Amino acid sequence: MGQTIRIGRYIAFIVCSIQLSLFSQFSHATSQPPQAAIASAHPIATTAGEEIISAGGNAFDAAVAISATLAVVEPYGSGIGGGGFWLLHRASDNKQVMIDGREQAPGKAHRDMYLDKQGNVIPGLSIDGPLAAGIPGEPAALVHIAKHYGRLSLSASLAPAIRAARDGFRVDEYYQRMAGFRQNALQASPAAATTLLNHGAVPQTGSLIRQPELAATLEAIAKQGHAGFYQGEVADKLVKAVQRHGGIWTRDDLRNYQVIEREPVTGQYGDYRITTAAPPSSGGIVLMTMLNILSAYRLETLSELQRMHVMIEAMRRAYRDRAEYLGDPDFVSIPVKRLIHPWYADGLRAGIRMDKATESSALAAVPVVPQQGRHTTHFSVLDREGNRVAATLSINYPFGSGFIAEGTGVLLNDEMDDFSSKPGTPNVYGLVGAEANAIAPGKRPLSSMTPTFVESEHGIAIIGTPGGSRIITMVLLALLDYVNQGDATHMVNLPRFHHQYLPDRVQVEPAGFSDSVLDGLTGLGHKLKQLDADYGNMHVVVWDKRNNRVTAASDQRGNGQARVFTGPE
Ligand code: GLY
Repeated sequence: MGQTIRIGRYIAFIVCSIQLSLFSQFSHATSQPPQAAIASAHPIATTAGEEIISAGGNAFDAAVAISATLAVVEPYGSGIGGGGFWLLHRASDNKQVMIDGREQAPGKAHRDMYLDKQGNVIPGLSIDGPLAAGIPGEPAALVHIAKHYGRLSLSASLAPAIRAARDGFRVDEYYQRMAGFRQNALQASPAAATTLLNHGAVPQTGSLIRQPELAATLEAIAKQGHAGFYQGEVADKLVKAVQRHGGIWTRDDLRNYQVIEREPVTGQYGDYRITTAAPPSSGGIVLMTMLNILSAYRLETLSELQRMHVMIEAMRRAYRDRAEYLGDPDFVSIPVKRLIHPWYADGLRAGIRMDKATESSALAAVPVVPQQGRHTTHFSVLDREGNRVAATLSINYPFGSGFIAEGTGVLLNDEMDDFSSKPGTPNVYGLVGAEANAIAPGKRPLSSMTPTFVESEHGIAIIGTPGGSRIITMVLLALLDYVNQGDATHMVNLPRFHHQYLPDRVQVEPAGFSDSVLDGLTGLGHKLKQLDADYGNMHVVVWDKRNNRVTAASDQRGNGQARVFTGPE
């Protein structure tokens, strides 16, 4: 008996050793990607990231370089006068964290600051000029990421951005379109009218935009870190300029700004582990709610019409909850566990009929008029150690508030518009917000930014996009495509549709859907709004562990660039 047990143990040991050795061979073959990859919204930013990885930096150093370079060359999308969320995965210990560099309401902000005496929203006040600007978080986030996660010095990682600001970049047609759209706001700011416009006019394509003052501010951050932006000369100039033009920032607002490390929202969809944005972004919770609702349908067995129908119904319900529950978690209590629990989704799903659209008014109605823009930015990075970053950054509206603080080159955000200026009244994206997202000093406005990792034993996708309230549904569509074996290029170029509870409309891109499907949706009672332009600008990196291959893609709707490269051995 004793002998049998010993032999049994011995055999078990051998079997176990063989399994371990097979496993370690498998995990060795797949634990590190064969190549690095970057997908971002601008070729100069992608090049900056590659330069940093090639110089021995990791994905986090590259993220600092790409963020800062996008701030220079894509000023309509993000900037050091704005903020964002950097979702990090560190391969050495599998740490996953969201760096919350979201803007914060100034100390003098108050709930009714954008209302007139009658309690009506004053149009434009939360969009144009420095009163619309929250305290920026991007500089603090870059310093934090470089210090705690990077391998290179902050000044090394900021060098490509400083160069781009000093030497300039060429205006393209997209820049022109965005500058035309925000020309009035930019003209109202003398520094913006000369730096980002050509003496107030939209610059010619091919002309050079040089930003020497922004280069000097980036240099101050490179040399002094956090204090280079939030204290001293730059901070003084920022506060003076803001106050001179009607804003309410103080030196204390800047001095007190801190990034927050937040635990990402996580969940499961079939065999796939989702890691995504936590509040103050609504993105992760809304995404998980939609996925949980959809998890009971075998989507691959449904017709295109049925699939779109249930996805629209999932969107409607998840966005309704967004309006009711979500805000800055440091100010409001959000029932996160409940909202992303599969049982909660069972309840939401129970009201969905396959033969009929739900009226949003049956859930709770406020009729509103949407306005949507393409704004914000996203990039995805994977390095050869397996570190990864999904970062979605914003200054909100294209070119943010349009205001550059004199002497700093810093274009300020208009992220205050992401608060509910008046609960129940929509913001520029048509999103309704309730009490949870009311303005308060020091509070961070609710966001839709949804940087996301999707992983299974077969591989990893790093996903994200700009696009205002439509960000979350774009990420949903791409994620479901990945699960359905779509590759990076297919994911970013999918035709898009969106529903956000109110207004009760399905927004549909101009191309990509057949008349019979659209007629079918109408037949079910959906109200369609066919858009005259496409939207979003998605950037995806995929590491397929089955064939150990890395791919990357940038949305054909934008001017971005995806690159897969070997980097240093
Ligand atoms: N400002 C866009 C967002 O945060 O979702």
